Amino acid sequence: MGRTVYVNGTYLDEAEAMISIFDRGFLMADAVYEVTSVLGGRLLNFAGHLARLERSLNELDMAMPMNADGLLEVHRELLRLNGIHDGLVYLQITRGNPGDRDFAFPDPETTPLTVVLFTQNKPGLAASPLAESGMKVVSVDDIRWGRRDIKTVQLLYPSMAKMIAKKAGCDDAWLVEDGLVTEGSSNNAYIVKGGKIITHELGNDILHGITRAAVLRFAREAQMEIEERAFSVSEAQQADEAFVTSASAFVMPVVELDGRAIGSGKPGKQTKRLREIYLEESLKTAI
Ligand code: PDD
Repeated sequence: MGRTVYVNGTYLDEAEAMISIFDRGFLMADAVYEVTSVLGGRLLNFAGHLARLERSLNELDMAMPMNADGLLEVHRELLRLNGIHDGLVYLQITRGNPGDRDFAFPDPETTPLTVVLFTQNKPGLAASPLAESGMKVVSVDDIRWGRRDIKTVQLLYPSMAKMIAKKAGCDDAWLVEDGLVTEGSSNNAYIVKGGKIITHELGNDILHGITRAAVLRFAREAQMEIEERAFSVSEAQQADEAFVTSASAFVMPVVELDGRAIGSGKPGKQTKRLREIYLEESLKTAI
């Protein structure tokens, strides 16, 4: 028996879990998702993830499949059934199975959304060795679509970018558009220069990271200066520090970009401090 997963109201073994070949998530990438991290059996920033889920669904004319309490209950039940202490919960929502293939959206009255949740067990998630060594990143062209603020399952290009990074002996890719870094393949990107934290402003070009919002809030509370604007690869290479944020990586130092060391080539002081503050503060509100 493998993991217990959730599919449309039922908890079942992953080997028994099935969705239709006509599901629009499969045929059209007509689906959104959320990833929430779990530390000590509790969910981090859950309210933020649900708020973004509702926004993603809204932007695509889909409704929340159940209320916040219902979704929290499913998350918690999966953590319990799978004995997860540290890990991740993935929530995938598609426009459902209209029974055939057609570009037009089906009537939501007759085609209910498909709702899938599954867990990943990651013991010691917050003690990643990469947080000590820092990540090496390589820049690649950002050729994704124009609504990156919607958390869709269109992850082919981010997967390709990760493969480019891997082939270059790096840990991840930073995506570059018009000479400026938008974000990482699956995280938001930052540099630190003269004590100031610089990161791409919100808009349609980047995903509005839940970790980003929390980290910027904690940084402001700690009197750190913040500038929300895009930066270039060469500006990043001349920065004092760099890092990325995401639900799965928290605050993760970046020490090299396109073969050039950033700052001392080791995780920066401010980055380390932000990681500590983020983990400490997020655990206080974990549910
Ligand atoms: N990725 N930008 C992109 C393109 C992302 O895919 C992600 C998250 C983020 C950070 O968002 P958040 O802080 O809300 O996790 C930014 C998740 C972790 C994933 O796909 O696994």
